[in-house]
Amino acid sequence: MKNYLETTKDVYKKAAETPDVGLCCTTTPIWQLPGLDMPTIMQEMNYGCGSTVNPRDLVNNPSILYVGVGGGMELLQFSYFSRRKGAVIGVDVVDEMLEASRQNFKVAEEQNDWFKSEFVDLRKGDALHLPIEDASIDVAAQNCLFNIFKLEELKQALKEMYRVLKPHGRLVLSDPVCEQAMPEHIREDERLRALCLSGSIPLQDYIDMITEVGFGTVEIRAKRPYRILSPNHYDVEELVYIESVEVCAIKDPMPEDGPCVFTGKTAIYYGDEECFDDNNGHVLMPNQPLSICDKTAGDFTALGRDDIYISDSTYFYDGGGCC
Ligand SMILES: C[S@@+](CC[C@H](N)C(=O)[O-])C[C@H]1O[C@@H](n2cnc3c(N)ncnc32)[C@H](O)[C@@H]1O
Repeated sequence: MKNYLETTKDVYKKAAETPDVGLCCTTTPIWQLPGLDMPTIMQEMNYGCGSTVNPRDLVNNPSILYVGVGGGMELLQFSYFSRRKGAVIGVDVVDEMLEASRQNFKVAEEQNDWFKSEFVDLRKGDALHLPIEDASIDVAAQNCLFNIFKLEELKQALKEMYRVLKPHGRLVLSDPVCEQAMPEHIREDERLRALCLSGSIPLQDYIDMITEVGFGTVEIRAKRPYRILSPNHYDVEELVYIESVEVCAIKDPMPEDGPCVFTGKTAIYYGDEECFDDNNGHVLMPNQPLSICDKTAGDFTALGRDDIYISDSTYFYDGGGCC
């Protein structure tokens, strides 16, 4: 029987040689930026389940690492913001995928006068042993790769990303998650895992694994419907609903009272005082929204006040937080 790496290599060798439009599939729009003409081949080889490119992360000429290159679409989008030689490093374990993205960058060069293939430094390597120096990267990203890994491998892949990031560096991830118990025989099916269909874990477990390797701040930026595994197409007894998430983990020091995880909760003070100050860095002005992390939301709830509204998690956190 083939192990996960052999199966994954088989699947992505084929996907490199013949674009497979439905392989992963995203509900996120493909960002069309002014002056960026995205080659059709890159769109056909969009094997991600969300987006990891966010201009907010890309200030101050960051060094960028992208693991699991696919057809190169997101590397081109990152290059759009960096525009210098070697600013984006792409790592992949499948030779054919590296070669396909190399060819796709040539097409991108023909279609975009601002782009040069040399902006991207493609390297052969494994997400579990990155060919990258310690603390050398500002923004690391992976899209729809880590869900393929089993828990021990996922932990190792996250540790590797943590190792290569500079202090306060950002790891941007997009992966499927699933709140239902995935049947064991489906979870163990290496091919379904490689196709990003059966390796997903519940969001809270995913967040816990990220914070356990040391990331002190986590933002849940988006959560969207992704896939249904139905009994008429898969060996399951009931519908299995899978969502995709976009997450940013920041290599901030771990706060003494635990990580700050922003899931889109907001506090609004509606009391009669000038403001509410928890003397712990959070000041709520009357009827003004303040994004808060889940830890702070828990602390506010524990106060038992009837003049602070705390919203549910929206799972669409977009900055402006309190911690
Ligand atoms: C689902 S595709 C995602 C591609 C790309 N991120 C995108 O969004 O289109 C997974 C990618 O990870 C690569 N890959 C698989 N296992 C890997 C590993 N252990 N280390 C590095 N890359 C890997 C595959 O070759 C493929 O390019």
